[in-house]
Amino acid sequence: MNGDGGTAARRGFATRAVGYLAPSHLDEDEVLLDARTRGTEFGCAPIDPAEGAALRFLATALRARAVVEIGTGAGVSGQWLLRGMAPDGVLTSIDIEPEHQRAARAGFREAGYPSGRLRLINGIALEVLPRLADGAYDLVFADAATVEYPRYLDAAIRLLRPGGVVALCGVPTADELDSYEAGPEARALLEVHQACREDERLVPLPQATTGLLIAARTAAA
Ligand SMILES: C[S@@+](CC[C@H](N)C(=O)[O-])C[C@H]1O[C@@H](n2cnc3c(N)ncnc32)[C@H](O)[C@@H]1O
Repeated sequence: MNGDGGTAARRGFATRAVGYLAPSHLDEDEVLLDARTRGTEFGCAPIDPAEGAALRFLATALRARAVVEIGTGAGVSGQWLLRGMAPDGVLTSIDIEPEHQRAARAGFREAGYPSGRLRLINGIALEVLPRLADGAYDLVFADAATVEYPRYLDAAIRLLRPGGVVALCGVPTADELDSYEAGPEARALLEVHQACREDERLVPLPQATTGLLIAARTAAA
C-alpha cells in the first residue's frame, strides 16, 4: 500500500471511530431522559451523557457490587452506575433533599431495579459517610457540594477497597483551575488535585478537560 492509501485507510478508520464515539452513541433512552428532565426541574444539574458512560464503564470494569454515590439528584448518574454494576450490586446513594431522592427512586422503579439494589440515604453527606464501612466499596462517585470535595475524597479513601476507584464530578483540569477566581470552591478543587497527585494511596487518571477527576485506591495503608 502506498503512503496515500495508508493515509486514506487511517482516515477511514478515524471516521468510523469518530462515528462510534459520536453523540448518537451516547444518546440517552427514555428512562435517562425522564430522570434528566426531573433533575433539571429541581435545578440539580445531572451529569452529562459522556460522564454517565464513563461511570458505567468504571462500574463494569470494576464488576462493582458496592457503590457509594454522594448527590443522588433525580437519579441520572445512579441509572448509569446501575447499568454497569454487577446484577446483584447495591448502590448506596446519599442526598440531603428528600424530594430529589423520591424522584430518583421512582425512576429506578420504572427502570425495573428491585428495591434491594438501592440504599437511598436521606442526609448530610459528611454526617452519613462516617457511618459507611471501611474498605467495603468498589467505587465512590461524588456530585454534591464542591467545597466539601476534599472531605469526600478522604472518606472515599477510607471506604474503597484496594483497586477501588473514586470519581469526583465537575472538576476542572489543574490548568483550567489557574483561571478560576480565588475562593472556597477553587481552594477545594486545588486541594483534590494535589491530593490525587501526592497521596500515595491514590493513582490519578490524567484529565483532558473539565469533568470527572478519577483516581484508583492503592493498597497503601
Ligand atoms: C448536581 S446534583 C446531583 C445530580 C446527580 N448526580 C445526577 O447526575 O442526577 C447535586 C445533589 O447533591 C445534593 N447535595 C448538595 N449538598 C449536599 C450535602 N452536603 N449532602 C448531601 N447531599 C447534598 C443536592 O440536594 C443535589 O440533589
